[in-house]
Amino acid sequence: MSEISSPVSAINILLLGNGGREHALAQALAGSPHCAKLFIAPGNGGTATVGTNVALDACNPAQVVDFAVKHNCGLVVIGPEAPLVAGVADAVRAAGIPCFGPNAEAAALEGSKTFCKEIMGLAGVPTAKYASFTSEDEAIAYAERLGAPMVVKADGLAAGKGVVVAQTFEEALAAVRACFAGEFGAAGATVLIEEMLTGPECSLLAFTDGVTVRAMSPSQDHKRALEQDKGPNTGGMGAYSPVPIVTDDEHQAMVAMMEKTIQTLTKNGIDFRGCLFGGFMLTPEGPKVLEFNVRFGDPETQVVIPRLTTDLVELMLAVAQQRLSELELSWRDEWAVTVVLTSAGYPGSYEIGKIITGIDEASALSQVTVYQAGTTLDDEGNVRTAGGRVMAVTALGTSFEEARERSYAACDCIQFEGKTLRRDIGLRALRGRSAWDEN
Ligand code: AMP
Ligand code: GLY
Repeated sequence: MSEISSPVSAINILLLGNGGREHALAQALAGSPHCAKLFIAPGNGGTATVGTNVALDACNPAQVVDFAVKHNCGLVVIGPEAPLVAGVADAVRAAGIPCFGPNAEAAALEGSKTFCKEIMGLAGVPTAKYASFTSEDEAIAYAERLGAPMVVKADGLAAGKGVVVAQTFEEALAAVRACFAGEFGAAGATVLIEEMLTGPECSLLAFTDGVTVRAMSPSQDHKRALEQDKGPNTGGMGAYSPVPIVTDDEHQAMVAMMEKTIQTLTKNGIDFRGCLFGGFMLTPEGPKVLEFNVRFGDPETQVVIPRLTTDLVELMLAVAQQRLSELELSWRDEWAVTVVLTSAGYPGSYEIGKIITGIDEASALSQVTVYQAGTTLDDEGNVRTAGGRVMAVTALGTSFEEARERSYAACDCIQFEGKTLRRDIGLRALRGRSAWDEN
């Protein structure tokens, strides 16, 4: 039916975001024969090496549309959740430009944990039992009745930091109070309290145009700041892909949950074109959804995208134009491990502006790519730290162990004051499923 089964000519592309995820996406987009010029707004030190960084406010729909029109962009790709929730995809589509990223209505799946739970309820997707509160007193009374352990979540966007897995009632109380005291701004005006689930976590990303869902290869993030999965939750300390401990049954169950969720959104007139990200826990009763995000994961992207061999421009354009059924995904038969280098103190307060050395030496190692995130280039050409998560060091290998060793060898080449990393990325999975029963 469709005359254009793939974009034959090269197009200009605007990618929004400035994380390690965007560096990984930028590299894959720029490597496609279908990409003419690649612009990244605002981008980072890494994206500047594969495209042109532009100083745009990615959350300002008018600015984004204006730039995309002026520069004849044939595709806009939205990396982070904030512009999606702010309606940037709606504005880009309204201007007639193909857009990879869901409309604001669909982005509420990540923007409001309560809305996400409601959609999961309609879709019949297994998730933790929960209650949602706008009154502090009622939340506390519920927490008292439920008893520890429990999980307290700010309803809105909190950069991965609005979730507390409380082992005691006192911790839960402190978390509820912090939300209502405005620690997460408007995001904490509604609070969810849910049962604590146990088991390994697994991330599944999927391309979807609202009709077809193409699940990517599974990956596993390490959210806790400290080794042995201790300490506070972060934006992600490292990841690997594929995930050896996931069974075929679990994999199929997770894909089916993603499909049901998209069907439910579509049935309710909610258009989702982009990446649906399922965060799962592989519980003894089977996989359950912890949350859905409406964008690629970070650092999951840094291990999934390097393994994808299907052309990313073709895929993203097919999603934007609702003809994803024409394409299948194919994968490199290799393992990928990424280790995130952070600034000492992250996810709490940390210093920035430290000179980073050794990126070139690390990148020169076999099968290693350094994806920059919180970095900036100073006037003398030094790369300096500019954020909590500074970079993600990805390596591919023919075995899990080889990918791990390569990644850590590359991490050891890179130096900056306060460099902090977890040395145990992927170790539990290497020990097998039973390693999750050990604590
Ligand atoms: P979320 O942002 O909802 O994915 O939560 C962030 C992290 O908190 C998850 O990746 C889990 O590690 C943890 N978490 C969230 N919900 C639960 C739950 N119901 N039970 C146990 N851990 C959870
Ligand atoms: N890796 C978790 C996230 O991107 O939210």
